[in-house]
Amino acid sequence: MAFQRVKGTMDVYGHYARAKEKVSNVLKGMAELYHFSPFETPVLEPTALFERGSGETTDIVEKQMYTIFDKGGRSLTHPPEYTAGVARAIVENKLYATEDLPIKAYYEGPLFRYERPGLGRYRQFTQFGVECVGADSPWLDVETLLLAVESLYYLGFKKVKALVNSLGGKASRDAYREALRAYFEPHKDELCPDCQRRLATNPLRLLDCKVEHDHELAKGAPSIIDYLSEEDRQRFEQIVRYLDALGIDYAVDPGLVRGLDYYSGFVFEVKIEGKKDYGSVLGGGHYDDLLSEVGGPALPGVGFALGLERLLASYIDEGLDSDADPGLDVYLMPIGSAAFERSFGLLVETRLSGYSAEMPSKEGKLSSYFKKAERSGARYALIYGDEELEQGRAQLKDLARKEQSEIDLTRLAEELDARLGEGEGHHHAE
Ligand code: HAM
Repeated sequence: MAFQRVKGTMDVYGHYARAKEKVSNVLKGMAELYHFSPFETPVLEPTALFERGSGETTDIVEKQMYTIFDKGGRSLTHPPEYTAGVARAIVENKLYATEDLPIKAYYEGPLFRYERPGLGRYRQFTQFGVECVGADSPWLDVETLLLAVESLYYLGFKKVKALVNSLGGKASRDAYREALRAYFEPHKDELCPDCQRRLATNPLRLLDCKVEHDHELAKGAPSIIDYLSEEDRQRFEQIVRYLDALGIDYAVDPGLVRGLDYYSGFVFEVKIEGKKDYGSVLGGGHYDDLLSEVGGPALPGVGFALGLERLLASYIDEGLDSDADPGLDVYLMPIGSAAFERSFGLLVETRLSGYSAEMPSKEGKLSSYFKKAERSGARYALIYGDEELEQGRAQLKDLARKEQSEIDLTRLAEELDARLGEGEGHHHAE
């Protein structure tokens, strides 16, 4: 009986897996530069966490959650996003009391949303994200976006565009909600059933309705910018001044409201302008009330999350993935049965020296060994026959330069260090 993967999921292997690993390492390295630390939360959370934290009236929570009931009858959900889980973990472990503030966390892991699969849209996907929790300053809002944008430039993307907006604090958002109600109310009968409901529960959600007619109507809706309090406006202006000073390529998009409920103040999304449009590669923003919503103290936070599959699609489109595979350091090529038998020892020794190494799984012709070495991207071949091995000698061949020299096998580690060590090798374990 043969099986197929679940719709909207993918298997990750080969070159794609290498590219994913590389991109992930770059993102983590950048987050470390900005003084973020690794953080992990489970892929099973109480369902109510997302209802409370991410927002009961969002599409993500209303329509897209993978909720299961375990054998004990508990309602658990595979996370559709990590921000709520990180907030829960900070509150539950009282990290706000024991750690220096702000807590700066980065995470990477699988997420689950029951969406219609399409270009850059999966039901299981991977996010890399950061959250900075427990301190409040416009600079921290900007730093978060700066990290996102700089990471994309560092990966090699040339055209990176940020869209920014401010949703203001609670008072500003309340005033804006009223303005939206007043705008949409006369058109209530034309709206889709979802939006008719949203008009009462959360009119902000009308702005990202995908139904054509509602979408058109939303274009004429009032803009949040006009409803920001003086304080909120000043803070947004300060942020925009930082963005200007840093030379970040951005545009203010008054229609950007984001699809989750916890945002207040600064919000943003980033697009990579490339061959194909996969939608936003990342999104994020500031939140004031999430921690208190999930039972903690009133601490603000800011963060973003990036979709790794979308990033990788652009990364490959732009040809940035060519050196993602580190290749093998040494491929062993025994000639003759005695040499083959003794290769296991050499293999272990080479790996212990910190160099990746492989040998053929069975005896064969030298020409077949060379093919295997080439396919595994090996830089060196170590070639030896029975007699040579007896004398403790072998040929070490640089496969790219086609240069070969005889070496003393008791000095194998030193010979490899000289050729592959310190900055030259790509696989040298410390
Ligand atoms: P989000 O905008 O819902 O934000 O998701 C962030 C990114 O995840 C998107 O820009 C996209 O690249 C990727 N993504 C979302 N859905 C899918 C999907 N179905 N398939 C593939 N990729 C997808 C959040 O999740 C917030 N937690 C971000 C945040 C962190 N805000 C503050 N801190």
